[in-house]
Amino acid sequence: MQAAAVATALGILLWAEAGRSAGDEAREAAAVRALAERLLGPRRAADFAVSVERALAAESGLDTYSLSGGGAARVRVRGSSGVAAAAGLHRYLRDFCGCHVAWSGSQLHLPHPLPAVPEELTEATPHRYRYYQNVCTQSYSFVWWDWARWEQEIDWMALNGINLALAWSGQEAIWQRVYLALGLTQSEVDEYFTGPAFLAWGRMGNLHTWAGPLPRSWHLKQLYLQHRILDRMRSFGMTPVLPAFAGHVPKAVTRVFPHINVTQLGSWGHFNCSYSCSFLLAPEDPMFPLIGSLFLRELTREFGTDHVYGADTFNEMQPPSSEPSYLAAATAAVFEAMIAVDPDAVWLLQGWLFQHQPQFWGPSQVKAVLNAVPRGRLLVLDLFAENQPVYTRTASFQGQPFIWCMLHNFGGNHGLFGALEAVNRGPAAARLFPNSTMVGTGIAPEGISQNEVVYALMAELGWRKEPVPDLEAWVTSFAGRRYGVAHPDAGAAWRLLLRSVYNCSGDACRGHNRSPLVRRPSLQLNTTVWYNRSDVFEAWRLLLKATPTLASSPAFRYDLLDVTRQAVQELVSLYYEEARTAYLHKELATLLRAGGVLAYELLPALDRVLATDSRFLLGSWLEQARAAAASEAEAQLYEQNSRFQLTLWGPEGNILDYANKQLAGLVAQYYSPRWQLFLEALADSLARGVPFQQRLFDKLVFRLEQAFVLSSRRYPTQPQGDTVDLAQKIFLKYFPRKVAGSL
Ligand SMILES: *[C@@H]1O[C@H](CO)[C@@H](O)[C@H](O)[C@H]1NC(C)=O
Ligand SMILES: *[C@@H]1O[C@H](CO)[C@@H](O)[C@H](O)[C@H]1NC(C)=O
Ligand SMILES: *[C@@H]1O[C@H](CO)[C@@H](O)[C@H](O)[C@H]1NC(C)=O
Ligand SMILES: *[C@@H]1O[C@H](CO)[C@@H](O)[C@H](O)[C@H]1NC(C)=O
Ligand SMILES: *[C@@H]1O[C@H](CO)[C@@H](O)[C@H](O)[C@H]1NC(C)=O
Ligand SMILES: *[C@@H]1O[C@H](CO)[C@@H](O)[C@H](O)[C@H]1NC(C)=O
Repeated sequence: MQAAAVATALGILLWAEAGRSAGDEAREAAAVRALAERLLGPRRAADFAVSVERALAAESGLDTYSLSGGGAARVRVRGSSGVAAAAGLHRYLRDFCGCHVAWSGSQLHLPHPLPAVPEELTEATPHRYRYYQNVCTQSYSFVWWDWARWEQEIDWMALNGINLALAWSGQEAIWQRVYLALGLTQSEVDEYFTGPAFLAWGRMGNLHTWAGPLPRSWHLKQLYLQHRILDRMRSFGMTPVLPAFAGHVPKAVTRVFPHINVTQLGSWGHFNCSYSCSFLLAPEDPMFPLIGSLFLRELTREFGTDHVYGADTFNEMQPPSSEPSYLAAATAAVFEAMIAVDPDAVWLLQGWLFQHQPQFWGPSQVKAVLNAVPRGRLLVLDLFAENQPVYTRTASFQGQPFIWCMLHNFGGNHGLFGALEAVNRGPAAARLFPNSTMVGTGIAPEGISQNEVVYALMAELGWRKEPVPDLEAWVTSFAGRRYGVAHPDAGAAWRLLLRSVYNCSGDACRGHNRSPLVRRPSLQLNTTVWYNRSDVFEAWRLLLKATPTLASSPAFRYDLLDVTRQAVQELVSLYYEEARTAYLHKELATLLRAGGVLAYELLPALDRVLATDSRFLLGSWLEQARAAAASEAEAQLYEQNSRFQLTLWGPEGNILDYANKQLAGLVAQYYSPRWQLFLEALADSLARGVPFQQRLFDKLVFRLEQAFVLSSRRYPTQPQGDTVDLAQKIFLKYFPRKVAGSL
């Protein structure tokens, strides 16, 4: 029965895809050729003959590529779709040329002539879908992007074989049309939307109003971007997922329609009801299908459709009732509003709610939601499957198709972290689960551009039937490709990282990167980590040892900086422990020494080394936000959105430091002053013999935090100083002093 339901879902989607014509094969091939030119330059791209042939996947219907030629001839890359051809091109670059494509910069030294493929190599993915994005990625990573940056990302997606992805830009512009048509005033609409950096939560009904309003120019620019994004995704044969109505409405709807039946939901994320407690329309209210279909009709009129729609009614939101009949009605209403406009609609649902509030979502509540939509028409993202899979305890989502997703990252934090063993085993185990309805793999981080090794593995698993057999060998070759040359010390460093920071398992992974460095100081900070810190320090030593050979590799310099950053993060924990112990034992001299190193030496040194790399600059981060603006007033709004997101998150530190980043400028002007204030407060407490008062400190430190957010100070957007030189200085100073002691 389950298999049949999945077949139905796939049937619908394949039907939609079958509508693509021979002309689309040519269009998709052209898109991949253009990608190759962007990636390799026109001269080297000409060494590849790319074609798209649907017939390649005739038997399985699953994306397939085939590679042949090379040597004296051109390399022939054939794919059953544009995405499949792009994935084939990437496979060739990776496995035959030792190249590496990454967010932090690619290593694309192609051999002359191109290596021959000795025997035609044909590969079919076992997964119907390779999905990408989390609703939150839109806010934590993509928010300020222009087309040039989107283009790079869509190229990255195609090369990694992604064929299903959110395309959620510009939806507020459509909602604005709908609300105005319903009779809301412009100021009511403006009051409803959040600022750009918080739209992800506005869209899920968690927030409204906060950090807004959205300027007119924002809507125009996002509409423009969304058209280009969709056009490019479709040109590769990807399926973009559009948003749909989930049931949340602005309060002002009740002014226009006084008899409308809405329920005010509870607050979210420590925000008060000025910014949260959104209004949910009752599923039986006749306005539900009306608003839902008005939106979808207007959206698809503007953008066309590929028949998959995302909507999340209860994401981190407690439903007003736990009655299964209510939950079923609320779910069915969303789906019915979809099919009223698009009879072929498939609903993509984030399964996050089920694992986020397991006490609410008992078996009958989960069943009510999953069974309210016809089998095969609800496609569930098992969003955090590497850590808290839901398919195992819901009989494979009650027979609804699901995608095994790796979430990995929260808030775009920088700390080194990964559960590579669990990720490696997860998808294959999910496919073998009894009566499994798994139809794909997914990459669903809240923020990107960190811990690239984890994403490289997950992307590869999208095309593998079995786990990677030997992860040690895999990371060793990953390092070789990344730096363009296999180096024994770099390989050894990566194997140490694999067995430590990248081998998290179970509960230990949940609190990752809550390092004292990026947290508001207190005497209660938890310094426990799931790995042996010595492994990080030793990896640091080995990378420095490899520096004379590898220093010209941009990816190596990035990693050297990233591991230096991590080592400093570890050192901050160690000095913090020492300072805390000294304080508790009332040893003022030791407190001043250890605390002084932390606040006045280590953090400034970290800031200086981060400042050497354009990928770790607060200045660039904020400039990106300002560059998205059309006036100085907008630039100020966007910059403040960005500063809030990095630090206080809400007006009162509502989700304090959740989206922390280790950027030059942020360390010097935000994390450092906090630690200095803390150290002074502790020293003062010992000197005067009065107890340290956390509550008083919190009040004082909030002023510093707020001052940072409200400041308009400019930061450099150009790197300064030499990474290797400064990393070495930190190493020479601290490795013998602290590290050797703990080794
Ligand atoms: C919510 O918090 C904001 C900012 O902290 C404050 O200005 C507002 O009055 C509060 N609203 C309510 C309803 O308490
Ligand atoms: C309003 O909606 C709720 C939730 O669906 C329902 O229980 C209630 O009966 C409705 N009230 C009216 C007056 O229709
Ligand atoms: C799998 O499905 C079959 C056919 O519906 C059923 O008989 C069997 O009990 C299911 N197995 C499990 C473990 O749920
Ligand atoms: C990761 O940790 C597990 C135990 O949790 C262990 O069995 C495995 O060997 C480790 N993997 C590596 C690569 O160190
Ligand atoms: C510190 O964190 C670790 C790992 O997350 C956890 O096991 C431990 O209970 C925590 N310790 C305290 C005192 O909260
Ligand atoms: C951490 O690694 C070091 C060096 O390999 C070793 O001496 C030490 O015993 C390890 N510590 C733990 C807690 O395993």
